[in-house]
Amino acid sequence: MRAAYIEELGPADVIRYGEIAAPRPGPTDVLVDVLATTVNPVDTFVRSGLFPTHVDFPFVVGRDLVGTVAQAGPGVTGLRAGDRVWCNSLGHGGRQGAAAEQAVVAADRLYRLPEGVDPYAAVAAVHPAATAYLALFVHGRLHVGETLLVAGAAGNVGSALVTMAVRAGARVLATAGSRDAQYCAELGAAEVFDYRDPDLAEQIRGAAPSGIDLYLDTAGVNDLETTVGLLARRGRVVLLAGARTRPVLPAGALYMNDRSVVGFVISHATPDELAEAAAYINDLFRQGVLSPRGIEVFPLSAAADVHARMEKGELRGRRAVLCTDVTAGD
Ligand SMILES: NC(=O)c1ccc[n+]([C@@H]2O[C@H](COP(=O)([O-])OP(=O)(O)OC[C@H]3O[C@@H](n4cnc5c(N)ncnc54)[C@H](OP(=O)(O)O)[C@@H]3O)[C@@H](O)[C@H]2O)c1
Repeated sequence: MRAAYIEELGPADVIRYGEIAAPRPGPTDVLVDVLATTVNPVDTFVRSGLFPTHVDFPFVVGRDLVGTVAQAGPGVTGLRAGDRVWCNSLGHGGRQGAAAEQAVVAADRLYRLPEGVDPYAAVAAVHPAATAYLALFVHGRLHVGETLLVAGAAGNVGSALVTMAVRAGARVLATAGSRDAQYCAELGAAEVFDYRDPDLAEQIRGAAPSGIDLYLDTAGVNDLETTVGLLARRGRVVLLAGARTRPVLPAGALYMNDRSVVGFVISHATPDELAEAAAYINDLFRQGVLSPRGIEVFPLSAAADVHARMEKGELRGRRAVLCTDVTAGD
């Protein structure tokens, strides 16, 4: 089969495209004919070694897939050849990736795609959406009626955060570029602030005089010196971006108010947590309320180029989808 794979960790140009041996499913695995995969920031971190994780060479890159069940192992129940499915947890932790014509997926990491959902839009949505779900409800412990601040609310993860938090009954404050204010308001943000405004912190304080219960910064600025002071008592910051930032933490303002800062990556989510997120995401797909704002489609052979473009910042706010030669109608 043809695949985008690496023989060593390194820059984007270590990715090769060509023939490698097709994977063999075990008894509780499913062999999937891949329709499309994506390129996420974390795929570049795994490829370069910035995010340390177990990989076996040749290593197929890529985390997400949408495809069709080719063969289900004898121990798999509920999935049959021909079923349209998706996965968002390949390509790390000892699992081979999704950027190939075929992939093996453990049955508990594979989810049915609801009827009528566009597979390309779906595969583009699942990584940021699952990240948002886990950040809000598992690590952020969001409750009905709480006030949430989403920094970078017009981005891929940010827009999913706003969509889900509004549905969960939170009051959502957002920061975004001024051209994205209308988009964030349409997603349901109660107030949108321009992240370039020099008085941003004062504006947020004015909109949430009792403080922010949960603060999520998808832009990875991680200005904890300011953010901790904006929190309510027992307010939480979930750090999920900005791997190279070195913020200053005001310790007294944190512990004297029962506030907390926790880190989170989706890479460590358990199969049960991922399945819980997947059920929620499938529900949003059925309702038609989860669709990426912008998608760029490339052939699978362009994986190295797309990794390089992502690292240069050329894909900000847009999702990159890599397609195999299989078509959605096949
Ligand atoms: N922890 C995890 O498990 C996990 C999972 C997925 C992604 N991530 C990380 O999440 C981050 C966001 O990913 P993404 O795909 O959502 O990126 P994205 O679509 O590019 O969104 C980033 C958004 O932040 C905005 N922004 C830039 N500077 C800002 C600032 N100073 N204040 C507020 N907003 C600002 C950008 O607006 P402009 O267009 O105006 O620049 C853009 O709308 C990445 O670092 C990624 O690695 C983490």
